[in-house]
Amino acid sequence: MENNIEKILIHEQTILSRLDELGEQITKDYENKELTVVAILNGSLIFMADLLRRVRIPLKVDCWSVSSYHGTKTTGKINFRQQTINDVDHRCVLLLDDILDSGLTLKTIKDKLISETQALDVKTCVLLNKKIQRAAEVEADYKGFDIGDEFVVGYGLDYNGHFRNLPYIGVYHEQV
Ligand code: IMP
Ligand code: MG
Repeated sequence: MENNIEKILIHEQTILSRLDELGEQITKDYENKELTVVAILNGSLIFMADLLRRVRIPLKVDCWSVSSYHGTKTTGKINFRQQTINDVDHRCVLLLDDILDSGLTLKTIKDKLISETQALDVKTCVLLNKKIQRAAEVEADYKGFDIGDEFVVGYGLDYNGHFRNLPYIGVYHEQV
């Protein structure tokens, strides 16, 4: 498995220390608010689990299953496996995703929440922010780390379904 990892980009301990900070920030910002966290699966599975244990206010969690990527190139089409949206009316929503790349996923889901629900406020939080020209206009309100235009795996991120269980973020390379 690790033969496909060109280099470790972000070590496990570095991720967890950053999550301490993000958790504290979110705790402060949403104190005394009704918060629903919407996590985009499968990519944000591990990020969600580690981050939410650092958020020390009452909240609800909803998980949405969405897919868009095939291999290392985005398809530009978002498949929703979600039939219904749990009630987020009059609540603040914080969308969690593993990585902000073209922006199509976050933008589509954010727009859907804004147009189809009466959420008070929709903000976004991503572990990784690719510093690239985006196809969709969206930026994250909370971000763990900025990275360059590289394909990364681990800590929830996959290549065709693999590598999600690596405890760190690594740069993927095709094995020769
Ligand atoms: P976007 O819609 O292009 O912003 O991409 C969103 C989705 O593509 C993310 O939720 C990831 O699942 C996937 N993705 C984008 N870049 C990477 C990467 O470098 N590694 C693994 N998955 C990625
Ligand atoms: Mg993915």
